[in-house]
Amino acid sequence: MTDTTAQDQVLIFDTTLRDGEQSPGATMSHAEKLEIAAMLDEMGVDIIEAGFPIASEGDFRAVSEIAANSKNSVICGLARANATDIDRCFEAVKHAARPRIHTFIGTSPLHRAIPNLSMDEMADLIHETVSHARNLTDNVQWSPMDATRTEHDYLCRVIEIAIKAGATTINIPDTVGYTAPRESADLIRMLIERVPGADEIVFATHCHNDLGMATANALAAVEAGARQIECTINGLGERAGNTALEEVVMALKVRNDIMPFKTGIDTTKIMQISRRVASVSGFPVQFNKAIVGKNAFAHESGIHQDGMLKNAETFEIMRPTDIGLSDTNLVMGKHSGRAALRAKLNDLGYEPGDNQLKDIFVRFKALADRKKEVYDEDLIALMQDTQTGEASDRVQVKFLRVICGTEAPQSADLTLTVDGVDQQVTATGDGPVDATFNAIKSIFPTKARLELYQVHAVTEGTDAQATVSVRLVEDGKIATGQSADTDTVVASAKAYVNALNRLEVRREKTGSDKKEVSYKDL
Ligand code: KIV
Ligand code: ZN
Repeated sequence: MTDTTAQDQVLIFDTTLRDGEQSPGATMSHAEKLEIAAMLDEMGVDIIEAGFPIASEGDFRAVSEIAANSKNSVICGLARANATDIDRCFEAVKHAARPRIHTFIGTSPLHRAIPNLSMDEMADLIHETVSHARNLTDNVQWSPMDATRTEHDYLCRVIEIAIKAGATTINIPDTVGYTAPRESADLIRMLIERVPGADEIVFATHCHNDLGMATANALAAVEAGARQIECTINGLGERAGNTALEEVVMALKVRNDIMPFKTGIDTTKIMQISRRVASVSGFPVQFNKAIVGKNAFAHESGIHQDGMLKNAETFEIMRPTDIGLSDTNLVMGKHSGRAALRAKLNDLGYEPGDNQLKDIFVRFKALADRKKEVYDEDLIALMQDTQTGEASDRVQVKFLRVICGTEAPQSADLTLTVDGVDQQVTATGDGPVDATFNAIKSIFPTKARLELYQVHAVTEGTDAQATVSVRLVEDGKIATGQSADTDTVVASAKAYVNALNRLEVRREKTGSDKKEVSYKDL
């Protein structure tokens, strides 16, 4: 057994960079994947599933570099049930101090029909592929995909084969989010009782959230004996997503009285990584999302506020500081100095270098001139605006004035600096943002398709900053640009230009982000 766990320790396996990133539209850049992996490692995630190395050159490179940079976490890659996938996976994860190969095949009747294998043929393939993986590393995870819809006798049979072939972790995926808590627990209990060798390995639970039960199903599996939870930050993932890391970790912490299991997660890092994943994936967190939603610790109604002032426990089962939110929302203004800004940013979990602080300070002062009070959320938006990942600065917005009103068409007068040269144009459109985007395209033509345009008010009030996300797609390459400004149209222009710059970087790179295969292609 490779990951020996104390009775009450639950291993946290994060698959934000594989199952999460595989969801349409959530593609992250190489630099962003490395950054998220470093944050996961730092917060105490036991196993990071860093990608699916056979899927594309980009995935392979990301898994290899994450493996090489990992400090504490086991680095895992996904592989289908064939030697080519498994070899490619090992080529990438072998750079880690503690590599893991995760290989899988769909075992339910519906999934068995896809490669058209008989039960016996599939059993032989499982033996062969798990043995192959085990010959490369002693840390092998095997998953019977769609386990929750697989016949119990067959599930027991193939798990026994995988254990005998050398699997050290057996993951039980609820691939389509079909199970319910009692059934999830019964399944794990049944497997532990019936499968020879079950006490030699770690059982994992991997739940999708199609019926909104992923967290409950994962916790039920743990109570029945699973000792690894597979999850993603913000519950990111295809369709309704995966079990949310922050939910299971905080549930085990807050209700430790009835679920006496510990994890190695530093929960004070949760908020920062949640914001970063939302930002780089372009998937915002819903306001009322458990643990990390904007309203999760907001007490709006009079009766709640009164209770909170007398005793926070009246309406709060955990403290904001438990997940890394600052206790006091100390408002900054135009008289705040650089030292105060640094202290505040540190408090919010950022550690800007001297040059980055210089840049942020200039932008903070400009914002404070336009906006009386600068809140934590404003500073977070500024920080995210400077963390634009791997963007070039070929194109920059120099000047923008829009004319809008009840009479169409609206027009935008725009100057862009392209490769150091100013270019000016006036364009019209159906609304100020459309006019602005048309102006950008007429100066810097692109065949990229606009796949997402999203605006969020950072704080309340009419002087609030807007954060805008723009996602562009060109030949399978996806780039998400973001920007924040008190003027929504300016933020939109900058976000669009940021996405164009990021696309430039991707175009220049050898290798593609485009997945040549998906884990669903067998
Ligand atoms: O949901 C699923 O079944 C998966 C497997 C590849 C483990 O993600
Ligand atoms: Zn999955």
